[in-house]
Amino acid sequence: MTKKIVRHTVALLLLMLSFSNIYAQKTTVQNIDSRVEALLAKMTLDEKIGQLNQVPGDISTGTDVSKDDLLSRIRSAKIGSVLSHTNFQNKITMQRVAVNETRLGIPLVFGFDVIHGYKTIFPIPLAQAASWDMGLIERIERIAAEEASADGQNWTFAPMVDVTHDPRWGRIMEGAGEDTYLNSRVAEARVRGFQGDDLAAKNTVAACTKHFAAYGFVEAGKEYNTVDMSEQRLRETVLPPFKAAADAGSATFMNAFNVLNGVPASMDKNLITNILRGEWAWKGMVVSDWNSFGETIVHGAAENESDASAKCLAAGSDMDMAGGTFQKGLKKALESGRVTQAQIDEAVRRVLRFKFSLGLFDDPFRYLNQKRHDETLEKPEFRAVAREAAAKSMVLLKNDGGLLPLTEGSRFKKIAIIGPYADSKGNKDYMSFWTLGLGVRDYDSTKVVRPAQALKPALEKLGYEVKVTEICLDATCTEKDYSVAINAAREADIVIACVGERGIDCGENRSVTNLELPREQERILSIIGRLSKPTVMVLFNSRPLVFDWANQNIPAILVAWQPGFETGNALADVLTGKVNPSGKLPVTFPRSLGQVPIYYNHLSTGRPQQYPGEVWTSGYLDAPTTPAYPFGFGLSYTTFSYSNLKLAKSQYKMGETVEVSITVTNTGGLAGEEVVQCYTRDLTADISRPVKELKAFEKIKLNAGESRVVNFRLTEKDLSYWNHELKWKADPGKFKVFVGGNSVDVKEGEFELVR
Ligand code: GLC
Repeated sequence: MTKKIVRHTVALLLLMLSFSNIYAQKTTVQNIDSRVEALLAKMTLDEKIGQLNQVPGDISTGTDVSKDDLLSRIRSAKIGSVLSHTNFQNKITMQRVAVNETRLGIPLVFGFDVIHGYKTIFPIPLAQAASWDMGLIERIERIAAEEASADGQNWTFAPMVDVTHDPRWGRIMEGAGEDTYLNSRVAEARVRGFQGDDLAAKNTVAACTKHFAAYGFVEAGKEYNTVDMSEQRLRETVLPPFKAAADAGSATFMNAFNVLNGVPASMDKNLITNILRGEWAWKGMVVSDWNSFGETIVHGAAENESDASAKCLAAGSDMDMAGGTFQKGLKKALESGRVTQAQIDEAVRRVLRFKFSLGLFDDPFRYLNQKRHDETLEKPEFRAVAREAAAKSMVLLKNDGGLLPLTEGSRFKKIAIIGPYADSKGNKDYMSFWTLGLGVRDYDSTKVVRPAQALKPALEKLGYEVKVTEICLDATCTEKDYSVAINAAREADIVIACVGERGIDCGENRSVTNLELPREQERILSIIGRLSKPTVMVLFNSRPLVFDWANQNIPAILVAWQPGFETGNALADVLTGKVNPSGKLPVTFPRSLGQVPIYYNHLSTGRPQQYPGEVWTSGYLDAPTTPAYPFGFGLSYTTFSYSNLKLAKSQYKMGETVEVSITVTNTGGLAGEEVVQCYTRDLTADISRPVKELKAFEKIKLNAGESRVVNFRLTEKDLSYWNHELKWKADPGKFKVFVGGNSVDVKEGEFELVR
């Protein structure tokens, strides 16, 4: 017995000694590396491989971690991180086990998909991008970080910065659309919002820029599909938003599921080691996507877990999300000489450094404070920002005859609000797949202010009589539903038809082959149309949709996207004119799926079509080449004019800054915000260049009648591109510059770059 007591006492003393070393000092920039090295030196191979293992939380354990082996695996130091855990107490339990019941007491890091808010749900990211308001986007992520960190999350798997040209791809909702420049600015704003200026602060979370890389170019918009593209397009279109996020300090990156030119992204050494860590000198930690290490075997690019482990680790990937591939194969890879101890140590070093930088070694329970948890989540002021964001994201596509806004004293009296999304309580409607719980537990949809719930009282306050029709959800529509909707419309002076997509159909694993509105919705709209009633179509969507009949026949169309918690209030604010819509499309709306991919910054071709039907040109027999609505498009309740486009000079030496100015005037009767967009075209490069490229924008607010001169400064860097030798450079020669309120209606100027 005595021997046993002595042994335990010695073990306890050793543990306390090792524990005290780990937590003894406060982490500083000066000591972080030495502390990482000191800890690394103490670790066994199993402990090291355990730190590279990230395991799902609620998804695998439900609400009680003791119900499965999660705690025992933490206790045996086989887990370094847990993701998707929504239960606050469970996170405390798990951290206690990691810190107090393992040999070295290394804390866990908790990750979560905070994609458009954590507890307070904001508009989907694509909608936020439609606001073109970087300050607003940063404020949104600041709030998301406040809530997530208060609920024990240290790390969000965002921003998603995948440029895409394909609305069939469900994840188009997660990024900032088709343009590289806009995606880059949004990426920076999101990283700033999440991380603030101190990763170890209690109210910040680490960002995770994803998916590295080119996931947005899956063939046919099919989820998880193959990606094949030129190095030029990769450099020119795909990588800049990742570089912007890296430069903004994103602490981590995430692999993509797809192959890029045959190489699974998780084992793509060129991407991760040569570009991200080499050219960009980025020092952070790379986590796989969900089992993307293991999927290299399914891709047919690895033989087994050991081979997959070796290839992914050697490529520069560090942490294994949810797949257990490293647990199964990394030790074997080491023993067989496929990887070296130094390579394993380097990955573990990056994970430890990440945890030190979060302050987890100063206080492993820093993000698990019950008081802060209780007083932070869902603060009323967070909802106010959600309401502002939803209204600022909405895009007015049509407003024939000034039907909107619906104001007091209108000649119209009776309003019918109809359609499947007039007042839906459906699971995740007006939100997306990416709201808390990831399907583990449905979000409390009572927290969503539904359209009719807010719109009815808001319109009644203005003197309208409002009838909300029983709604049907698409395929469940019956003849009775139609007749009820038609009767309501027949009795009304104005119809507000709320149509679009289910919230649960937005996000990952939600690719579609048809962008049309569901047949039942088209039918209700066309029936209403035949009543020749003034109609407002409100679209709840997560991607560009096709609604040709509505475009031809409905006078007012508002893209509301999936607006989040404050859907109804924001919609009421916009439809009643309390908020003058200012959103601009971050992605082209096609006339038909047949036009896809269709995007504004396309190449000229040798035979650009000048008018519909022009023969022997790049076009179609059965459709125009122009979209239904172009990139950057959005109307206001007021109007803006553009004049006096000026360039300081007609010729600029290489290296000089090109100064562009334009006068914008609010020519309508209402104050409003306008996104002034500046595009260029390189007319004489050594490869073909896009007909337009967004280079700058500024969102301005003008009172009725007010004018303002807006200035843009274009540097040589702005005018550079990846040339045929894949060198990043600007060419001497002629350029066009375009400035306007969208990518089509622009004022045009020209200048020349000379050596
Ligand atoms: C998913 C997504 C990724 C997400 C991760 C964790 O499959 O591809 O974006 O962050 O798994 O949920």
